[in-house]
Amino acid sequence: MRIIIDTDPAMGTLGGDPEDSFAIMLALNSPELTVEGITVVQGNVPAEKGYANAHYLLDLLGRQDVPLRRGCLRPMNVQRTTQITFLQQRYATQQITPMVEPKGADADAVSFLVNTVLSSPGEITLVTIGPLTNVATAIQQSPEFAPALKSIVMMGGTAECAGNISPAAEFNYWQDPDAADIVFRSGADLTMVGLDVCHQTHLYPSQVEECASHGTPLGEFVQASSAPWFRIMGGTSGSGALHLYDSLAMAVAIDNSLVTLDDAYVEMEVGFGPAQGMSVSYHKPFQRIIFNRPKVNAKVALSVDADRFTQMFRDRVLGLMAAE
Ligand code: RIB
Ligand code: CA
Repeated sequence: MRIIIDTDPAMGTLGGDPEDSFAIMLALNSPELTVEGITVVQGNVPAEKGYANAHYLLDLLGRQDVPLRRGCLRPMNVQRTTQITFLQQRYATQQITPMVEPKGADADAVSFLVNTVLSSPGEITLVTIGPLTNVATAIQQSPEFAPALKSIVMMGGTAECAGNISPAAEFNYWQDPDAADIVFRSGADLTMVGLDVCHQTHLYPSQVEECASHGTPLGEFVQASSAPWFRIMGGTSGSGALHLYDSLAMAVAIDNSLVTLDDAYVEMEVGFGPAQGMSVSYHKPFQRIIFNRPKVNAKVALSVDADRFTQMFRDRVLGLMAAE
C-alpha cells in the first residue's frame, strides 16, 4: 500500500512526545507499505523542529531517499490563541537534533500532498499522526484532492472515552479543530484511531533501555530523546509506560483487523468553549436517528487486539532499534 505520513515528530526535542518517530520506524520497516513521503505539520513541536527531527531520523535509518516536506506552521484559525500559545512555548525547548532549513519546494508540504495524490488517483492513503492542518489546507486548495485519495487513517479523537489534552478533546484534533472539521466533511474514506484503542497500548521505559543497551546509534538516540517524556508522561498511564498512539494508527493502516471498526458520523466541536476540539462520534445507529445524522462519514476504532499490536511493535520497531 502506498502511503504518505503526515506527522509532528518531536523525537529530538527534549521534553517532546517522541511517539511519531516510532510510527515512522514502523512504516519504514513494514513490507506492506511504500512510504511515498513524509509531510511535517505543527503540533507536538513547531514544524521547524519537527522537520529537523524527521530529517535526522531518516539520516539515521539511511532513508534519505524518502521525500520530506515541511508544512503548515500554525493552526488554520489565528483565533485559536490557546493552541498558538502552546506551540509558541515549544520554540524554547532544547533541541538535540541539528536544525535544518528545507530548500525551495521542500518547505511546501501542501503542494507535495496535492501533486502526489492527484498524480495517482485512488492509490494513496494518508496516515495522519499529527494535527490535520496540512491535510485540510490541501483539501481547501484543491477540490480534486479528497476524491482522489484512497483513504485517510488518522490518529486522533475519541469516540467514547475522555480526552487527553483536555477533559473533552484529544490533542491532534484539539490543536487544530477547524482542520479536523474540514477533513470530516471532506467525503474522503476516513478511519479514526482514537484514544479508545490507543490507551490499550503501552511502551515501558525498560523496553527502550534494553534497546539502547545494544549501543546502536538509533537505540541511543531514542533513549536520549525519550527519557524526559517518560518522566513527564509515564506516570499518567499508571504504569510508567507511554501509550503508542501513532504507532497503533500506523499498524491499523498495515492491518485493520487489529481493531474493530464501527460506522459513525463524526463531527467536531469548533466553538471556543471548554469542549473545543472534541470529536462527537455517532457510532450508535439509534443516536444517528435521534439526532438526525443519517450519514456515515468515518469508521471509528472501538476495540483492539493489543497483544497482536505489541508483537508487531516488538518485531518491527524495538527489533530495528536493537539491530541497526
Ligand atoms: O493524542 C495523541 C497524539 O498527540 C499523538 O499523535 C501524539 O504524538 C501526541 O502528542
Ligand atoms: Ca503525533
